[in-house]
Amino acid sequence: MAELKGDAKQEYVAGLFARIARRYDLMNDLMTFGQHRRWKRHTARLTAKGLQGISLDIATGTGDLARALSRQPEIDHSVGLDLLPEMITLGHAKARGQGLSAKTTMMLGDALRLPFPDGSFACATAGFSLRNMTDLKGALAEMVRVVKPGGRITTLDLSPMADGIKSSLFRFCFHRLVPLMGYIIAGNRSAYTYLPQSVDYFLEADRLAEMFQEIGLVNVGFQRMGMGTVALHWGQRPI
Ligand SMILES: C[S@@+](CC[C@H](N)C(=O)[O-])C[C@H]1O[C@@H](n2cnc3c(N)ncnc32)[C@H](O)[C@@H]1O
Repeated sequence: MAELKGDAKQEYVAGLFARIARRYDLMNDLMTFGQHRRWKRHTARLTAKGLQGISLDIATGTGDLARALSRQPEIDHSVGLDLLPEMITLGHAKARGQGLSAKTTMMLGDALRLPFPDGSFACATAGFSLRNMTDLKGALAEMVRVVKPGGRITTLDLSPMADGIKSSLFRFCFHRLVPLMGYIIAGNRSAYTYLPQSVDYFLEADRLAEMFQEIGLVNVGFQRMGMGTVALHWGQRPI
């Protein structure tokens, strides 16, 4: 299914996340041994550094990154946007539970057609979501459009690993164990079969950094985390 394109991919991705929304956070905790929380906190700190204003997290899911951003002293207010009402409802409840409702807005919307005027935000993030976009460059371009000149774009995502022993071991676990866990914990083997496949189809970290430059970002860089399985990319809209 990871090879789907256009509307067929969008429809498949929406149906998949709607079905697993309730177990999505638990699966992330189990698959990463809780590390995704640390990566998201790090991403939020790096994204907000030296800026001031409102932040946007696209395809926010249950809003982890949106809430991590709202905790940064530089961020006045944080917006998390997702295609699915199921995710937004869960995100609202988590923001309320963590006392962050006043500083966090969760809203429905399409990352490929962001409902905001140009230059609305100090920064924009995308966590573990670019792989699911039908138009990766279009999604990045939308993030750039809604960020002010000098604002920062960051993306945190799983990243294909170069061939080697570590990669083979990781691929074995990812392609065999994760679908089994998905079946047991989330009652959905196919969603967690799609996940490792979507990484195989995704850009390597260097190529994604080149794409950041192609869409006009400056000060572009990236950092690998999680033993090379995850990459955090950043860039700034020129002033
Ligand atoms: C893997 S989850 C990532 C959630 C969250 N960002 C995180 O880091 O845990 C992918 C999310 O992207 C959302 N999504 C997919 N395509 C989208 C689009 N075009 N616009 C907005 N959200 C989208 C899905 O509904 C899902 O919640």
